[in-house]
Amino acid sequence: MKKILFASSETHPLIKTGGLADVAGSLPLALTGLGQDVRVIMPHYQAIKNCEPGRYLCTVRVNNCDVNLLETRLPDSDVIVWLVDYPPFFGAPGNPYTDENGNPWPDIGDRFALFCRIVAEVAMDRAYLNWKPDVVHCNDWQTGLVPALLSLEHYRPATVFTIHNMAYQGVFPGSAFAALNLPGQLWHPDGLEYHGMLSFIKGGLSYSDRITTVSPTYAQEIQTPEFGYGLEGLLAHRQHQLSGIINGIDTAVWNPETDTQIAQTYSVKNLTGKLKNKTALQERLGLPVWSDLPLFGLIGRLVEQKGIDLVLSCLKEMTSLPLQFVLLGSGDKSIQVRLQDFARLYPNKVSVNIGYDETLAHQIEAGADVFLMPSRFEPCGLNQMYSQRYGTLPIVRKTGGLADTVVDTLPTTLADNTATGFAFSEATPGALMETIKRSLLLHTNKSLWHKLQRNAMTQDFSWENSANHYLALYQGI
Ligand code: ADP
Ligand code: GLC
Repeated sequence: MKKILFASSETHPLIKTGGLADVAGSLPLALTGLGQDVRVIMPHYQAIKNCEPGRYLCTVRVNNCDVNLLETRLPDSDVIVWLVDYPPFFGAPGNPYTDENGNPWPDIGDRFALFCRIVAEVAMDRAYLNWKPDVVHCNDWQTGLVPALLSLEHYRPATVFTIHNMAYQGVFPGSAFAALNLPGQLWHPDGLEYHGMLSFIKGGLSYSDRITTVSPTYAQEIQTPEFGYGLEGLLAHRQHQLSGIINGIDTAVWNPETDTQIAQTYSVKNLTGKLKNKTALQERLGLPVWSDLPLFGLIGRLVEQKGIDLVLSCLKEMTSLPLQFVLLGSGDKSIQVRLQDFARLYPNKVSVNIGYDETLAHQIEAGADVFLMPSRFEPCGLNQMYSQRYGTLPIVRKTGGLADTVVDTLPTTLADNTATGFAFSEATPGALMETIKRSLLLHTNKSLWHKLQRNAMTQDFSWENSANHYLALYQGI
């Protein structure tokens, strides 16, 4: 049995802004299911919900700050969560990265540096918890200083650093290094220094024993300039310690047979309930109930990564086709405004819902026929897997985890029952439009469409497989 300390800046259902939270809320559970001793550690944000209040454990002093550790659990489980409680940093409303108005926390470097120091203390069993992990599993730049700090220790646990997104690196002016009072040995070009600046992610990439990313294709892509954002050389240098393990999904939360948030449950054997969900969704959003027209859905952060600009370029033409389109998301203000303009102009065809709404996300997965995910890059992506489980065929761009989890519909893949959706290569509106039209054509053939739904709904995206890969990785260090 391995003792694993799993460090993350967000964990579903306690707090979530994106897929990292889904992973942090379900991989530790899956590893526990494999008989491992896993503890999650994350900041104690004011906005945390859905868990029992943290029980006070101890106070640890780092860098002249007295920090409390509290203990709670992942809901309905035995998985212990340690909450790093320091109200001056985490006590205000907002999410892990921004205040309530969406403005980035100005002291975000100080916040996560403090978090990393505490994770390192807990990892070295210097926090009076009487528990020393074999492995510290860090996630994204917010935890990047942990492997760096631990590299200075004797008898330290092994470290794994998982990249969920290379686009976010935690880079700060060089002066931050001294201001954060970090150990001088870490300041060099093979360490935390990045062209004279301080890079948190480099702590993970340079000092961890193993690097993983959340799909095999993305592990290759980040070794190229297009996806590596200047760190492709370092990643190529560490290629022998770098691998891709595809994310699983929480098959209990995302299950059309038991989902309590949708109008009608259904299964691959009985898809009639899916139509009821479509009607309910159209009614909820004020769209005309046109049951024969395919309903396209999109859920996600409205940022360049997700290819929203491609969708915006296609929307005018989409409104002239026999389809309806439902979007749920938030992000870039100018993208939001442009989308809302379309919804105002075409109220029978387009519904734009700005905000974060988990129930509506479930209802879109259940009610839509096609799911759009034309990402410019996608380390893994979860919604294309949720969609397949709900018999909602995804249209994806062939990149990262999308390339690894969706099989394009071609004569060959139709014949051998492997086709599960639609994929295109070029990041252009033309390529997306062509794929949308391809899906419309197939949708007119009901028996072929059902066959695709069956293929998609019977895929195994559960965590067990991926958790076993992580376990093998931990055991191999
Ligand atoms: P990323 O982590 O890059 O945002 P993923 O596809 O890995 O992308 O995960 C996104 C997760 O966040 C999914 O669980 C998705 O359903 C959820 N999500 C994103 N935006 C919203 C929203 N506006 N409302 C509800 N859920 C959302
Ligand atoms: C990131 C990526 C997304 C991935 C998620 C969980 O936010 O953008 O592709 O699914 O992390 O690993």
